[in-house]
Amino acid sequence: MQLGNDGRLSEAELIKLCEIVNSRLGFSYGPDKKMLIVTRLERRLRQLNMSTISQYIHRLQQDPSEVNEFIELLTTNVTSFFREKHQLEIVNRTILPGLKTKKRKVLCWSAGCSSGEEAYTLGMMFDNVFNGDGKFSILAFDISVQKLKEAMKGVYSSEAVKDIPPDYLSRYFKPLPGPQEIYQVRNELRRTITFRKINLNEEFDIPAKIRFDIIFCRNVLIYFSKSSRERLIDRFHAVLNDGGYLVLGTCETMDVHRDPRWKPLKNSIFLKRE
Ligand SMILES: C[S@@+](CC[C@H](N)C(=O)[O-])C[C@H]1O[C@@H](n2cnc3c(N)ncnc32)[C@H](O)[C@@H]1O
Repeated sequence: MQLGNDGRLSEAELIKLCEIVNSRLGFSYGPDKKMLIVTRLERRLRQLNMSTISQYIHRLQQDPSEVNEFIELLTTNVTSFFREKHQLEIVNRTILPGLKTKKRKVLCWSAGCSSGEEAYTLGMMFDNVFNGDGKFSILAFDISVQKLKEAMKGVYSSEAVKDIPPDYLSRYFKPLPGPQEIYQVRNELRRTITFRKINLNEEFDIPAKIRFDIIFCRNVLIYFSKSSRERLIDRFHAVLNDGGYLVLGTCETMDVHRDPRWKPLKNSIFLKRE
């Protein structure tokens, strides 16, 4: 079966599929995402032994668990260790030393953590700056159950770990026996991170007493519609301590004129004003 370019995905079907993604995830997928949707659906239709998109839409309407499968297919999970290194160096040099002086445990959130590389990167950075004192905790949330399973396993190929500095790799990972070169995150680092499923586009229940010192939401908001993005940024504001930081992807920004409660720092890092 070939959906490819042959136009078998009608305009109405495309709109329906975009509506499902947009309403669930807060995305702004439109007709320009046709090829992405077609390419990602081809395999799923084969697995389900279906030959037309209309059969699949019918299934989506009947079976809520298929909507979750569909959402998994449509999210982009690309990530890597020490992604956007220049930005992380600024965090490492100018933010973490200040957080280290707090008398209490510092709380960090990786919102949209995919398969864990961002959260483990942050864990290594914190542990290094905090000299292993254990006075930090990282919450790492994503909507993809599949990616969260990978994150919790914490096993990565030699290709995946290539950007981890060698001294960090030997401190925080152990090579696993076997024919392939693979590494597992050491338990000491795993213990600092809690992974959980969340839909950032729905009401999320962060307990009232939890306030974060720094939130990373990198390369997630680019897919969101303007209104969902603004709503989420408001909620980040509500769960951040005064003087806390929001770190977006380096290609992402926010309209600080709309919301003077944020002070923009360098490289898509924003400070919640006191
Ligand atoms: C491109 S990855 C970015 C991963 C990491 N933050 C980074 O920069 O390397 C985007 C992640 O956001 C997650 N995501 C997208 N929409 C979401 C939503 N509404 N709620 C929670 N996670 C979402 C996706 O599942 C995906 O794993």
